[in-house]
Amino acid sequence: MSSAKRVMIFLDTDKHASPFDILLLADLFPDAQSVYYGNVDPEDVQKLVQDSIFPRGPEGCKSTKLFIGGSDVDKADRIAEVALKSMFPPFELATVIDPSGSHTTSSAAVAKTLQVLLKQNLGDFKGKNVTVLAATGPVGQITSAIYQSEGANVTITSRRKERADSLVERLNRDSPNKVVGLQAATPEEVGIAIRDADVVMAAGSAGVQLVSLDVLKRYGTKCKVIADVNAVPPLGVENLSAQGDGVEVLPGVYGIGALAVGALKNKVEAKVITAAMESPKGLFNYKTGYQLAKEYVYKKLAK
Ligand SMILES: NC(=O)c1ccc[n+]([C@@H]2O[C@H](COP(=O)([O-])OP(=O)(O)OC[C@H]3O[C@@H](n4cnc5c(N)ncnc54)[C@H](OP(=O)(O)O)[C@@H]3O)[C@@H](O)[C@H]2O)c1
Repeated sequence: MSSAKRVMIFLDTDKHASPFDILLLADLFPDAQSVYYGNVDPEDVQKLVQDSIFPRGPEGCKSTKLFIGGSDVDKADRIAEVALKSMFPPFELATVIDPSGSHTTSSAAVAKTLQVLLKQNLGDFKGKNVTVLAATGPVGQITSAIYQSEGANVTITSRRKERADSLVERLNRDSPNKVVGLQAATPEEVGIAIRDADVVMAAGSAGVQLVSLDVLKRYGTKCKVIADVNAVPPLGVENLSAQGDGVEVLPGVYGIGALAVGALKNKVEAKVITAAMESPKGLFNYKTGYQLAKEYVYKKLAK
């Protein structure tokens, strides 16, 4: 690693770069400097990246990092694409992408469901049926992609069929493991979406209940694990507290609440940032996050 001062440049789609990631970096690397840009558009990125790679030379690049965030996840993806295209050897910067915490939250949420499956001796995701409810938000989209890449049979839902179809089209574009999309706008439609599921992930907006206990009892007869990422009451799954960590929501149905996901999310983000700070180059996204989250889970189970 170069001896130059480490600098993290935050490129955010929102007016202000989120203090969440900046503070996490400050605690992990008190000597590192943060520089932040808000309201960043993809058109701004080539110049920002080129003005970041040239002044410090190839050695300085090894100590200069990018963090792409913000609530506009599609824009953040386009920013990442332009940023990576604007670099070339030996002028490359280690780049983290985690808009709205979606990459690290999804990594943690999926890993927590894996932890419960393994703890209950139910095996991993290969061949399991997984339903991601309200999958069209930033967290749901990436959560679905991780389950898909882990070999699960994934069903995703939206209140609107067109939104479900559009997500399915994106997820299936580059994967041989095809995802299915359903409309789930009513309790009955939610029930139908979860009736074959071994694992259910509630990925809905803050303060929205997606699964009532009645629906879970009536339709979730095959369900072994149910998780929720919404920490704002009413929570996403009735009878599953935000702190729940492998608790039984119904007999034989183990639940993970949003704060249990959040606790692992913070650890995963710290590990992702550390990996980027300690690497001279590379992209650090949900693939890195899920790998690190899985390692944490396996270590925890081995204890
Ligand atoms: N635990 C953590 O560490 C952590 C970290 C980050 C985020 N979160 C939480 O994770 C959840 C997902 O985040 P996100 O940013 O992906 O969410 P989001 O974009 O706000 O919402 C996800 C989806 O919820 C559906 N939805 C919205 N209002 C609804 C309603 N009234 N009834 C039913 N469905 C509704 C929408 O899907 P359709 O319109 O397609 O139906 C939307 O695309 C949020 O609750 C957020 O607070 C947790």
